Amino acid sequence: MWPYPKVAAHRGGGTLAPENTLAGFRCGMEHGFRAVEFDVMLTADEQAILMHDPVFGRTLPGEDKVAEHTLAQLQQLDAGGWHSPQYAGERVCTLQQVLEFSRANGIWMNIEIKPAGDAWAVRTGEVAGEVTARFFAAEIAAHVPGQNDRTLPLFSSFSFDALMAAKRVAPGIPRGFLVDRIPADWEARLQALDAVALHTSHKNLTPELAQAVKHAGYGLFCYTVNDPARAEEILGWGVDGFCTDRIDLIGPA
Ligand code: G3P
Ligand code: MG
Repeated sequence: MWPYPKVAAHRGGGTLAPENTLAGFRCGMEHGFRAVEFDVMLTADEQAILMHDPVFGRTLPGEDKVAEHTLAQLQQLDAGGWHSPQYAGERVCTLQQVLEFSRANGIWMNIEIKPAGDAWAVRTGEVAGEVTARFFAAEIAAHVPGQNDRTLPLFSSFSFDALMAAKRVAPGIPRGFLVDRIPADWEARLQALDAVALHTSHKNLTPELAQAVKHAGYGLFCYTVNDPARAEEILGWGVDGFCTDRIDLIGPA
């Protein structure tokens, strides 16, 4: 059974607010969401921050690489003005800030570990794992699988190596393997990760694949579903949960 919320706001507040910022989280909350997906990357000084792109240009001004700047340098930048003037001056936020915000506001998290490249995969998984496991130490100790699962976040990553690193340093935080297209060896991968779920693009999912994943006993989570009719369709195939950019069209359920 899927113990997590059915719908999560993608990157905090979907497309309605600057992604991966606290402003995005607040926007998600204003739309009734208490479940979010967001991306975690490392700075040059190995601080875990919320960031999707490894290079500036889309959500940060300039052309530099995120992994070549320290947290202090990145926090000088405007992480919200790209979205709209009302968010100008919004700052890059850290994983620690978001963990605290989420606990204070009863928000469940799908923490996507997003290395800036293969060279950062293991270290990003380790740091995300260390920070999260330290924060949730009491919940990990009290966790009874199948009973209070929602007290813990769920890691996911396209990087198998990052997830294996997170498993090593934070075995008590559950994992979902994230793929664009379900590979032939999906079950072996999930077993190696001791994962609870498979996360996949809804675009490449078929009813047969959905059934196979569910039949094997895993949770099935899709990204990024923005059409309410499509959401109903894949839920009918057995999909357990999904994230959406359109928190104005799709309710938190
Ligand atoms: O975690 C699901 C989804 O966020 C994966 O794609 O590129 O939006 O991080 P992306
Ligand atoms: Mg993501």
